[in-house]
Amino acid sequence: MTDSTAAAFEGSKILILDFGSQYTQVIARRVRECAVFSQIVRYDTPAAELRATGAKGIILSGGPSSVYADNAPQPDAGLFELGLPVLGICYGLQLMFFHLGGKVEASKKREYGAGSLHVEAADCPLFAGLPEKLDVWNSHGDKVNTLPPGFRTVASTENSDFAAVEDAGRRLYGLQFHPEVAHTPRGKDIIQNFVYGICGCERDWTMGSFIEQTCAEIREKVGKERVILGLSGGVDSSVAAMLLHQAIGDQLTCVFVNNGLLREAEVEAVETLFRDNFHIRLKTVDASERFLTKLAGVTDPEQKRKIIGNEFVRVFEEAAAELAAGGEHKFLAQGTLYPDVIESVSISGNPAALIKSHHNVGGLPEDMKFELIEPLRQLFKDEVRQVGAQLGLPKEVTHRQPFPGPGLAVRILGAVTPERLRILRDADTVVVNEMKSADWYYRVWQSFAVLLPVQSVGVMGDERTYENTVALRIVESQDGMTADWVRLPYELLARISSRICNEVKGVNRVCYDVSSKPPSTIEWE
Ligand code: XMP
Repeated sequence: MTDSTAAAFEGSKILILDFGSQYTQVIARRVRECAVFSQIVRYDTPAAELRATGAKGIILSGGPSSVYADNAPQPDAGLFELGLPVLGICYGLQLMFFHLGGKVEASKKREYGAGSLHVEAADCPLFAGLPEKLDVWNSHGDKVNTLPPGFRTVASTENSDFAAVEDAGRRLYGLQFHPEVAHTPRGKDIIQNFVYGICGCERDWTMGSFIEQTCAEIREKVGKERVILGLSGGVDSSVAAMLLHQAIGDQLTCVFVNNGLLREAEVEAVETLFRDNFHIRLKTVDASERFLTKLAGVTDPEQKRKIIGNEFVRVFEEAAAELAAGGEHKFLAQGTLYPDVIESVSISGNPAALIKSHHNVGGLPEDMKFELIEPLRQLFKDEVRQVGAQLGLPKEVTHRQPFPGPGLAVRILGAVTPERLRILRDADTVVVNEMKSADWYYRVWQSFAVLLPVQSVGVMGDERTYENTVALRIVESQDGMTADWVRLPYELLARISSRICNEVKGVNRVCYDVSSKPPSTIEWE
């Protein structure tokens, strides 16, 4: 199940066969950091299909299996006959041994953690320009112990004589350790040596070339038809809107739904930026009352999500129907990113990613008569940010913190009322402003306020108060899957707390959430 759109990239590309490693995406990103396009494909993609993509080299990822296990994922062995350079990492190396006549030994003990690599063959192009000794990261069960014909050892560790091997004639390379992880500090050089030196790739995967090529593709696909896009103001839909606008101008209409659960001044910010500044056709639908009426009295978080999701679809459909009076929209654009696409080509669903699927509240029903257009489905998040910046989006948008689709409703514990929304909005504004002025906002993954359904006693002047509690949730994270609370300077915490208690009517207590994810989550709900 190769993603056909990716095969269309005309520059140099590297394919990564996914054998289920938790690091497969990291390998893909490392290659792209070399300005070389990379694409993850299924481990059993037929060799002829691999060849047809025009790739300049193949990387076999690691994986949790033992090559001897009955259900061990096996590649089409014809890939070793394609004449293309192949780099096998960990399980990928063991597969090479297994298929090419070497020996792999099942081992009961996993070798896990840091090791020291000794490069013995200084002429091996994989280690060109690197010192003789390198820190590397291991994580493998089986061990290779007899080289296949044509191979030689190029580097060893204390535990393995075959930590790096090559068959220079056939351009086949194998590494027992993981060059893609940060714990292998010179790993990036090894990957660079493979993609430039061994595969002969050009540095032609740049965001400039991506924009140019994608715009041409969009124009070709869309022709004279019209495209509709649900703009949320978040990074992905904003960048998708800019890209489509660059490609097809006024054939694009964006719909921005104000569900009444947005942050302070968000509607105005989106309208000013996209409509006034970039002259993008934008229809704002103020549906706040509809949402708030439906949410009245609802305290269960799943119930809230369901109501908001359903209502969003209804509002969007109505807006599309209204807009259709000026000409039907044949296409619906979405800001789907590469990590979502990878899920569908991967060897097995990643359970962590499945947890996230319920977050896609903007998901539209399948019976809508649109053809899908997903211009970002090749990109990782950091690439999306670069594209946005190149297209002129300000940092406030490209580096905006994630904000959940159901908005402030998941940050108000208990019932959502206009008054509680007002309190949370005001508290949130203080958090954002203070984080920005202390230069912390862009250094953390998320920083926001949560309104708890807890009132407690306080004192103001001579008066006793009985008011609400706000929790601060400020976390660092790579991808939202795991997170830790940020050790923010006390002075900053003090300032945020004192401003909220003094300026936000209805709050007399601020707490700092010092839990990590897991076992907690980022949002409280
Ligand atoms: P949790 O709370 O599950 O959140 O630790 C992980 C990340 O996902 C964001 N999040 C959402 N994003 N729609 C979204 O687009 C949602 O419904 C949603 N719920 C949570 C959350 O802010 C965090 O970054």
